[in-house]
Amino acid sequence: SKYCFIAVVVTALCLRVEATRAGSEVCFPPHFTFGVATAAYQIEGAWNVSGKGESIWDRYTHTHPERIFDHKTGDVAADSYHKVKEDVRLLVELGVHHYRFSISWPRILPTGLSNDINEDGIRYYSELVDHLLANNIVPMVTLYHWDLPQSLQDLGGWTNPIIAEYFHDYAKVVFEHLSDRVKVWFTFNEPLSFCQEGYGGTDAPAGNSSGFEDYLCGHNVLRAHANVYRMFERDYRHTGGAVGIVLDFAWMEPASTAAEDQKAAEIARQFQFGWFAHPIFSPEGDYPPVMKQRINEISKRQNFPRSRLPVFTQEEVVSLRGSSDFLGLNHYTTRLVAAGSGKIYPQPSFYTDMGVVITQNPDWPRTNSTWLRVVPWGFRRALNYIRVSYNNPPVLVTENGVSLPRMTHDVRRVQYAAGYLRALHEAMKDGCDVRGYTHWSLINNFEWTRGYSERFGLYDVEYASASRTRSPRLSARYYAKLTRTRCL
Ligand code: NOJ
Repeated sequence: SKYCFIAVVVTALCLRVEATRAGSEVCFPPHFTFGVATAAYQIEGAWNVSGKGESIWDRYTHTHPERIFDHKTGDVAADSYHKVKEDVRLLVELGVHHYRFSISWPRILPTGLSNDINEDGIRYYSELVDHLLANNIVPMVTLYHWDLPQSLQDLGGWTNPIIAEYFHDYAKVVFEHLSDRVKVWFTFNEPLSFCQEGYGGTDAPAGNSSGFEDYLCGHNVLRAHANVYRMFERDYRHTGGAVGIVLDFAWMEPASTAAEDQKAAEIARQFQFGWFAHPIFSPEGDYPPVMKQRINEISKRQNFPRSRLPVFTQEEVVSLRGSSDFLGLNHYTTRLVAAGSGKIYPQPSFYTDMGVVITQNPDWPRTNSTWLRVVPWGFRRALNYIRVSYNNPPVLVTENGVSLPRMTHDVRRVQYAAGYLRALHEAMKDGCDVRGYTHWSLINNFEWTRGYSERFGLYDVEYASASRTRSPRLSARYYAKLTRTRCL
C-alpha cells in the first residue's frame, strides 16, 4: 500500500543518514584502551601519615615556599590517601579501562632503603590495586613520579651512580608485593622534566644548576631504568607483566622552511626526546650522535678536557638497547624551533648545548599554562616521528590534557581532548602502533611549582573545604561517553 511504501522510503533514508554519520564518526578499535592518570605527590596528601618518610617534594615545598605559587604544598593535596575508594568510584563513573597512578617511594620505604619496609604503605597500594581489579580497571603503575626519599637526595640523589642500586631494590620490593596483580609498569615519568628542572635548573628539587648535573641525572636514570627492566625480565616476566618508560615529547616544528631551521628542529627533538628515547629504542643503545658531538665540542671549547655528557660502558649499552616493552608518551603541545644560540646561561648548560631558539606561535590557542598551546596536528607529527625513528614501537599515550580556568562547563577541555584524539586516530591510520590513551588528569591536583593554580582535572576538587569534594565537569561526562562508545 501507499503507507507501506512511504514507511520503506523513510526507513531507507534514516539508515542512510545513520550510515553517513557512522562513516564520518571517528571510532577506535575494540582493543584500544582509555584511561586517566594521576601521580602520588600531586593527589595523595598524608605526607607524614602512617609511617611515610619525607620526600624531596615535601622538603622543597616546606623549605622553599617562595618557589611555589601561593606558597602551597602537597601536604594534604586532594587527600586521595584517605579518599581512595571515592576516587575509584569516579573511575567507575568514567568507565575507564585503565588507571595510571604512581607509587610514592618514601611511603613504601621511608628511608629509601629496602631493609625498612612500611607495611601501611604497601597495604595502601595493594588495596587500591584490589579495588581497581574488582571494578575491571587495569592498574598501570609508575614507580617514580618525582618524589624521591629525601634521605637519598642527601646522598646526591640522581647524580650519585649508587642511586641505580637503590632504585633496583625499591622496584624489587614493589614487584614482590604487586606483580601478581599489576601487569603494566613504568619505571620513570618524564626524566627530561625532572633532570632538567631539578638538576639543570631550580624549578624543582634538588634545585641545582652546575651544568653537569642534568646529564648526570639523565645518565643514572637510564642506568637505573635498564637495571630494573633486566631484573623484571629475569625474575618477574612469568607474571605476564610488561615494563616501559614514560617520556615527554612536545612536537618540535621548524619555525620556517629554511634548511637551518629544519636542522635546528631536529637538534631540539634529539636533545629533548632522543636523549632518553635513543638509548632505549634505537639499535645503538646510546645517546643520539648529535648530542654526543655537540656536547663534546662545546665542553672542549669551555675547557673541559672531557665531554660533560657521561659515557655508557659497553655492558650498559647492551642492557639499555631494547629495554622497554612499549613507550609511554606524554604529549601536550608543540613548539617552534629556529636556528640561533638560544638562551645564554653563565654556567655550562643543556640549553647552550642545544643552541636553538624555541618559541610558540602566538596564534595557537592559549590555555592556563604558559607552556601549553593547543596544537592537535603536532600530536600526529610526534607519533609519526616516533614510528619512523624507532621502528614503530607500541605506544601508550600516558598523558594528554589541558589546564583551564575553574569551571564546570569546560567546553574547551572537551574540544582539546576531541582534537588531540582525532589527531591520534589519524596517526593510527598512518600506521602508528598506538595502543591506548590516558587523559591527565582524573582530578585537579598539585601542579608542582604552579601549586593548585593549574587545573587539569575532569573532576573539580573543592580545595577550600576540608572534605575536598569532587564534582564532575562536562569533560567527565564527555569522557564517560567516549569510554563506552569508543567513538568521537
Ligand atoms: C607532566 C607530569 O607528568 C605531570 O606530573 C604534570 O602534572 C602534567 N604533565 C601537567 O603539567
